[in-house]
Amino acid sequence: MSSDDEATGHETQPYAVQPAGRHTAASLGGDPAGDGAVERDAVDWESLRLRAVELMERAYAPYSEFRVGVAGLTDDGRVVAGCNVENAAYGVTLCAECGMVSELHATGGGRLTAVFCVGGDGQALMPCGRCRQLLWENGGPDCLLMTPEGVLPMSVVLPQAFGPDNLTHGGSRP
Ligand code: THU
Repeated sequence: MSSDDEATGHETQPYAVQPAGRHTAASLGGDPAGDGAVERDAVDWESLRLRAVELMERAYAPYSEFRVGVAGLTDDGRVVAGCNVENAAYGVTLCAECGMVSELHATGGGRLTAVFCVGGDGQALMPCGRCRQLLWENGGPDCLLMTPEGVLPMSVVLPQAFGPDNLTHGGSRP
């Protein structure tokens, strides 16, 4: 344990980073162990990317002209996806992740286990801060995200996250 670990009470996880685009597992993965987590190599990242690209091509982004698509694997093997939808009132814009999370709940709920977000070039795009919070809520610390530097868990992408546990165990609740 490092002194940082002692300060936080958490053990540092040595996550190796893999370059994007090298993952070609035969199946989409899912959650074979039933524990809400999925192994990085069990995910067909290329299929997720291609689904994200399909959605990116349907984006409504006439103002920024910055199209985004995202696809996520759920713990029961579904794939949910979304694209960004802009608005003349710029601040009302819906990020692609909003659409994906809506599809997640609209099609039965569950948890996100692996997510691939792409920009107009079809390559991995880091979700904005707000959308990292969405992924945290719906996938938690073990949800895997394809990043420009490879696959990383949400615990690395959104460290020291605020989440549901803070409301349950903190604040002014008795
Ligand atoms: N955008 C997303 O859809 N997701 C992100 O995580 C980053 C940003 C969209 C919002 C807006 O339509 C465009 O990208 C430019 O910010």
